[in-house]
Order: sequence, then C-alpha cells, then structure tokens
Amino acid sequence: MLVSATEMLQKARAGKYAVGQFNINNLEWTKAILLTAQECNSPVILGVSEGAGKYMTGFETVSAMVKAMDESLGITVPVALHLDHGSYDGCYKCIKAGFTSIMFDGSHFPIEENVAKTTELVNVAHQLGLSIEAEVGAIGGEEDGVVGKGECADPNECKQIADLGVDFLAAGIGNIHGVYPENWEGLSFETLEAVNNAVGEMPLVLHGGTGIPDDMITKAISLGVAKINVNTECQLVFADATRGYIEAGKDKQGKGFDPRKLLAPGFEAIKAKVKEKMELFGSVDKA
Ligand code: 13P
Repeated sequence: MLVSATEMLQKARAGKYAVGQFNINNLEWTKAILLTAQECNSPVILGVSEGAGKYMTGFETVSAMVKAMDESLGITVPVALHLDHGSYDGCYKCIKAGFTSIMFDGSHFPIEENVAKTTELVNVAHQLGLSIEAEVGAIGGEEDGVVGKGECADPNECKQIADLGVDFLAAGIGNIHGVYPENWEGLSFETLEAVNNAVGEMPLVLHGGTGIPDDMITKAISLGVAKINVNTECQLVFADATRGYIEAGKDKQGKGFDPRKLLAPGFEAIKAKVKEKMELFGSVDKA
C-alpha cells in the first residue's frame, strides 16, 4: 500500500522504533525489500537517489514499477516511495511522477536559500498529500555524486527548518554515507540530543546507516531518530553473494547462467539484510 511517510514516522517516533529507508536500484532490490517488509509486517520506505532514478531510466519508470509491483505482490504494509537527497528540480520531477514522499536536500545552500526553497516545496508537497524531509548539516561522504563534508547540524537551524512544516528532518551528527573509515569518531549524541530538544516531536532521520554499531543505532532511536537510511550495506551483501555464486562455478552448471538463477543469491542476501535491520530498528509487526 503506497502512502506518504508522515504517519508511519510519527508512530515510530512515539513508539520509540525506527522505519528503515532502503535504497532501490532495480527490480530485484525493489522486490526483495517489498517482500521482506510484508513478511516482517513492517512499514518501509523505498529510497531512490537521483542517480538510481536516472539508471532506471527516470522517476516515471520507477514510480510505475513500484506501484505495479506493490499491487501484484499484494503488499498490504505501508510503503512510501521517497526521493533521497533530492535537488529542487528532482523534487518537482518526483512529485509529477507520483512519488509519495520527497527529500529536499538544501543543506549545501546558505540557510536563507534552504529556508526559501524548503518552504515552497513543503507547500506543494502537502497540497498533494506527499511527505517531505529536509536536511541541515551535510551528511559526510559521497552518495551517487552527492558529496557532503560531514558537519554536525546547528540545533537552531534545525528548529528553523523544522518550523517550516517539514515532516521529518535529517540532521548531520557525524554520520557518513558509505563504509565508515577506521578512524571514525562515532555519532555525536551531544548534537543529536541538542537537535532533539530543539525540534520537539519531529521524527529525526539518520542517514549513512551502513556500518553504524547496533548500540549506537539503539541510542539514536532513544533520542528521536525514527527513520534510518541504509544503502551501501545491501549493495555489499548483494555483491558478495553474487561473487560467491560465480566463484563456486554455479553459473557454469546447467542453466546456472540464467539471470533469474544468477541474481537469486544476491536477492536472498538483500532480504536477509533488510530483515536484520527491521529487527534491529524495532519496526517488525508495526505495520
Ligand atoms: P549508506 O549507504 O551509508 O547506508 O547511507 C544511505 C543513506 O543515507 C541514503 O541517503
């Protein structure tokens, strides 16, 4: 069931658990995540970066595929189709394509410009029943060409953006996209606490979910995080499982080269990873 992410995240915030945003890249990714959410009776957010949207030939294709798949698989748990780190133009394209949620990442603009553009997009999104996420304090690392310095968010700026009526807010707290470096100092809970105190009941978003230790995830949820984004970890387990299949020579046995067989171990690996995260985030049986 395709819905905006507002209600599922408000419930998560109140119930002290988090809903996973898992980024999709193709049909296998989408099917694996939808089926796992249904099996776990968990709400879920399908994240689409601008790069992944382009790879799948555009947001219209993504939207049509997700809607059709949601119906044909008989998915009854709440599913939000969400633009990840959207540009201003990207947000309008996804609104037109029928996404149910958008993220406007204005974190690289001066705060006045971030405020002006976010205000406009909040109004448009809400008129059409979509949810909207904004970001303050860039998330470090690189994701599909979006590069961030990884600074911690200023709680006053978070309040300023939260007050514009966004539905959930990503605040940089030392989190980084991709695999964390050996010398990573961990999440800044001091920043998270200050942001949480500044924004009231606003569900907070933790980007860069890959590789954050379980105890830090649990603590972040206790401090208001209600949405956790995971991308790289699914890519890593998919690649490992596919390599294992090929290195074992299975593609050379019978019709093992059939893509439906070749991609099956990676598909199953994504399912197992998504289930593990839903259990850790506490969203199982919360649909
Ligand atoms: P990871 O790739 O580090 O899991 O980050 C995902 C993310 O934050 C998507 O916006």
